[in-house]
Amino acid sequence: MTAITQVAGSAPGPAGRGTKVEVVSDAGHRREELKAVWEQASACQKCPQLASTRQTVVFGAGNADADLMFVGEAPGAREDERGLPFVGQAGRLLDQLLGEIGLERGDVFIANTLMCRPPGNRDPLPQEIDNCQDYLFRKLELIRPKVVCTLGNFSTKLLRGDPTGITRLHGREEIRTIGPLALRLYPIFHPAAALYTPRMLETLREDFARLPELLALDAPPQPEPDAPPEPAVPEPELAAVTAEPGGEPEPPADDAQLGLF
Ligand code: URA
Repeated sequence: MTAITQVAGSAPGPAGRGTKVEVVSDAGHRREELKAVWEQASACQKCPQLASTRQTVVFGAGNADADLMFVGEAPGAREDERGLPFVGQAGRLLDQLLGEIGLERGDVFIANTLMCRPPGNRDPLPQEIDNCQDYLFRKLELIRPKVVCTLGNFSTKLLRGDPTGITRLHGREEIRTIGPLALRLYPIFHPAAALYTPRMLETLREDFARLPELLALDAPPQPEPDAPPEPAVPEPELAAVTAEPGGEPEPPADDAQLGLF
């Protein structure tokens, strides 16, 4: 298999603070590269507290060539035990909503803003979001989804680089340049927030129902490889991110179960 790689120059904010990022075009090689990022992430020690309290690094799971990628907040207890994202109650709702639009987990990729469970399901700290963001940006670059659905405030604020909250933004798609890629962002409520609030569930379902229409659109035009990088996400904005719950518990996942790549 031939790798078509293109060095995209200094990667912008999210992805990069001036580091050179390789845009790998060949699907097989992107999958291999994703595995390499996974291995690197699995040993991550950037957040001393999270590294000492986690059971597993929840890298993300799903189809490495997915057109649709979800980005949640952070693993909860169940996710931490199993090494998989969204395997608790919120995950079951996510599965249900996916089913209602004719999709299943194997069609999408699911990741989180943080890969490690914050103890007691506390909110992710700005420094933790900062430490984890390059992994997320690399996933986006390698999977290259047509639509990135941010679930709740944390991922929405991070990927938009703006503190506007999910209540104002949900259901409104927009094109954002993240690293070397232009992506269609689609913020929606976090499924955990809809679990016990029927009105929010209704809104989430309505927003979900638009996903097939967005997926049918062409991918947004990509920036020139030499375009000047986007500014880095300013730290104070990350601090403005507000709360949303994590997940919940089951046995450790083996690689095959991760369904990745
Ligand atoms: N909530 C999240 O944001 N992510 C998970 O993986 C589970 C619950």
